[in-house]
Amino acid sequence: MKPLLLALPGNETFAAGLASAAGMELGKLQVRRFPDGESYVRIETPVADRRVGLVCNLHRPDEKILQVLFAAEAARELDAKSVGLVSPYLAYLRQDKRFEPGEAVTSVTFAKTVAQYVDWLVTVDPHLHRYPSLEAVYRIPSSVLHAAPLIAFWIRANVPNPVLVGPDGESAQWVSEVAEKAGAPWMALEKIRKGDRVVEVSVPDIARWKDRTPVLVDDIISTARTQIAAVRRLRSAGLRPPVCVGVHAIFAGDAYEALKAAGADRIVTCNTIPHPSNAIDLGALVAGGVGSLLREGAQA
Ligand code: R5P
Repeated sequence: MKPLLLALPGNETFAAGLASAAGMELGKLQVRRFPDGESYVRIETPVADRRVGLVCNLHRPDEKILQVLFAAEAARELDAKSVGLVSPYLAYLRQDKRFEPGEAVTSVTFAKTVAQYVDWLVTVDPHLHRYPSLEAVYRIPSSVLHAAPLIAFWIRANVPNPVLVGPDGESAQWVSEVAEKAGAPWMALEKIRKGDRVVEVSVPDIARWKDRTPVLVDDIISTARTQIAAVRRLRSAGLRPPVCVGVHAIFAGDAYEALKAAGADRIVTCNTIPHPSNAIDLGALVAGGVGSLLREGAQA
């Protein structure tokens, strides 16, 4: 029997594309809220003896995670062969250590909870700064996919004469990979984050790139303060209005409008989180990841 995908609310379009690209069936999952805010979850497609993938990007995770866990537990109780989570954007990875005394290391608790309810995990470019790999925090079989080749492809097709710009030192490795695939030069800025919404960046000698279009590339755009600071610095150094590219379009609060107002020429993201800026479709990439994980049979 074909594996079955079930879409959590807001993930229907992505899940439908995934099902058709991966040759899987898209089943029916009913999720709604009771008047008191509690969640009702019902799996309407039989799951017995089938491998089931729950599709849910975990942007705004606190609103979603219980529904995912309820659906996963129900699928297990209804004798699914295995239950996995396809989460193109995986949340709670940034608090990966106790920066200040008394803080909760939420990435560990979140990962432990998810791994208790699902047998496998597929995601795209998880924010792994201090973890060497996803397995270091999620102790279940996983497939980690990378948007870099598709971002490079988009840049090649849409931005003549680009220079790629990473917003901080940590991005250098990733930006250099995209740049190599896009056949473009690159540079990385130095970032100092002074608070959730206060970011400063410094720019190396960039005058030589004035005849190129800067393309800022980052994994997450959340408050957009990182990209806004970079846009301002590039503009004040006399470069052209930059194209801003992100994998995960969080855009908290006024972030999208503020980035446009800061002078971005165009803002482009991948569709790991639905947003009007989505221009790079990762459906086929994720389908490949789900397919290979299921074929490997680690969770059959
Ligand atoms: C940080 O290490 C990440 O790669 C991003 O640069 C960061 O998450 C962006 O956050 P914001 O949009 O809030 O500046």
